[in-house]
Amino acid sequence: MKKVLVMNGPNMEILHRRDPSLYGGLSLQDIQDRLSKRATEAGLQLEFFQSNHEGALVDRLNSLEDYFQGVILNPAALTHTSVALRDSVEALKVPVLEVHLSNIDSREDFRRVSLISPVAHGRISGLGPEAYLLALEWFIGRLD
Ligand code: DQA
Repeated sequence: MKKVLVMNGPNMEILHRRDPSLYGGLSLQDIQDRLSKRATEAGLQLEFFQSNHEGALVDRLNSLEDYFQGVILNPAALTHTSVALRDSVEALKVPVLEVHLSNIDSREDFRRVSLISPVAHGRISGLGPEAYLLALEWFIGRLD
């Protein structure tokens, strides 16, 4: 079965405690449950990986097995700072869809810069938790 990695960066494990006007109020588990339901229907397997540690995220991406179709990645705060994560994404052969719950272009200036976007296949930002499901639909649409 085809597989997609859903990766989340720092503070995403406390999403339900973060500002609901920015992030929608759902927990990461809620989002993952929705994704799992849709993936099962579509015959796609998901792996979930969240870490607050840049190196752990880089390690997981760098050891991505060949049977993965791609990655849905919310790098969270590391979006704006991590050259290491960017280099890791750049080296992947499979598409990476960058997702953000909030619209990173309409917030503080420091969030307008994504080091990841130039090396991502595409980006969804500002649509709330739906972002992950839309990214998943894109992968489902590419299944043969
Ligand atoms: C975020 C946006 C980032 O700027 C922020 O640091 C996050 C979450 C989002 O999903 O909107 O932690 O990636």
